[in-house]
Amino acid sequence: MSEKKFYVTTPIYYSNDIPHIGHAYTTLAADVLSRWNKIKGKEVFFLTGTDEHGKKIQKVAEKNNKTPKEFVDELIPKFKKSWKDLNINFDRFIRTTDKDHEKIVQEIIKKIYDKGDIYLGKYSGYYCTDCEGYYTEKDLENGCCPIHKLKIEKLQEECYFFKLSKYKKELLKLYEKNPEFISPKYRRQEIINRVKEELNDLSVSRTTFDWGIKFPFDKKHISYVWLDALFNYYSATREKGKEKFWPADIQLIGKEILWFHAVYWPAFLLSAELELPKKIFAHGWWTFNNEKISKSHGKVIHVDELVSIAGVDSARYFLFRATPFGQDGDFSKSALIQRHNDELANKFGNLISRTAGLIEKTSFEKCENKLLKKLNLKEIDKKMQDLEFDKALNLIFEFIDNCNEYVQNKKPWETKDKSILYELADSIKAISILLWPFIPESCEKISKQFGFVVGKNSFEKIKIPLKISKIKKQEILFKRIECRENEQN
Ligand code: MSP
Repeated sequence: MSEKKFYVTTPIYYSNDIPHIGHAYTTLAADVLSRWNKIKGKEVFFLTGTDEHGKKIQKVAEKNNKTPKEFVDELIPKFKKSWKDLNINFDRFIRTTDKDHEKIVQEIIKKIYDKGDIYLGKYSGYYCTDCEGYYTEKDLENGCCPIHKLKIEKLQEECYFFKLSKYKKELLKLYEKNPEFISPKYRRQEIINRVKEELNDLSVSRTTFDWGIKFPFDKKHISYVWLDALFNYYSATREKGKEKFWPADIQLIGKEILWFHAVYWPAFLLSAELELPKKIFAHGWWTFNNEKISKSHGKVIHVDELVSIAGVDSARYFLFRATPFGQDGDFSKSALIQRHNDELANKFGNLISRTAGLIEKTSFEKCENKLLKKLNLKEIDKKMQDLEFDKALNLIFEFIDNCNEYVQNKKPWETKDKSILYELADSIKAISILLWPFIPESCEKISKQFGFVVGKNSFEKIKIPLKISKIKKQEILFKRIECRENEQN
């Protein structure tokens, strides 16, 4: 296994509707990490996709008078378009209806069954189709699902069970030996407590609908959607040339699906005798103007709307600057516009246009860039590795402040000092390389303007002095946006 590889995944999203800001958030985070690892010279595999089986999808397809396959086939191009609009560069978009995935899931079910970890039994209990998850009586809130607050079904059917309880000890050992396996740290204890308290065997097949992967040894049973879906992360690496990427380095998810990923997933892998991912990172949830994002209440921001507020880069920047990754955050258009104006337009944009304008008039002259000493690359890299995106951005923006102060103090428009202008241009190169994972479109424009390269392997080029080229002032990168005081939604 090469140290130079990096495999990052997002949850595969239910294909019952087009993606919104919440789905975009995880996928963008994976894109940021993927790009960061590319600039660090790693070979990256970035996987995202859709979870297309199960009763939830079957129900919505029926409502739309379509077969489930027709329904998902029409929806997937919209998912892909959203990710393109956000400048998300995944390496594979996996669908659980992909033939290679279905085949692998069947092989794994057979393997687990042959081993004796799957047995036939009878399930009696509660099931929320929106979560595609099981609940016990004490989990319910007034007879409703604690997450979706909707009435919950009582199931009673013959099904296969997975011997989850058998893995209790091994799971607890895993959490103890690998404290980073469940990240951030503050989410770990809750899972440990729940596993310690009670870990029942898990119902992993259904017989009352047929939209899913059939059990290879008993075709009237359809795989539980999570057993099918979780293995997407592995099946994507069975493609020729991709084998080396398993196990995943980081699996990004939202906090509401941590239980499935921190408990079921490693237990399934242990049973299938496969290596475990290195880290499951659960981020927080976005609210919209302090209210839960909910389609039924009309409080949803879809990708086209998100991008239309201040452009794709400002949306990407806002989501990672405004809230520590891991914690909950509140989204409002006015907050996004404010950061766009104050940080991207005033601080970063002005530095670029001012420097380019002065160089165009005066030209510049190579010298040692002493300003770079103020850029703490090691610390920024550490923050990125710890997924502290907001802190990494803070450090980069502190350096932008240093550069702006430098221009202000040295007044190169009066002194015509060509060395100062070189230091600024060379610093802009460093900043653009570091910001490329967050705001790729803008950084690519700047790199063309100033004559350097961003992207793959560029981190190590920060220390290589910028070549002298003809630099011209260009159109404004971040135009200020008028923000109405009461701009809320
Ligand atoms: N299909 C399952 C995942 C299977 S992975 C093997 C699923 N899909 S989902 O469509 O419901 O997407 C869940 C993911 O969307 C969350 O884990 C999170 O990444 C993201 N979000 C959905 N709403 C969100 C917010 N309001 N805020 C932040 N992210 C949220 O669960």
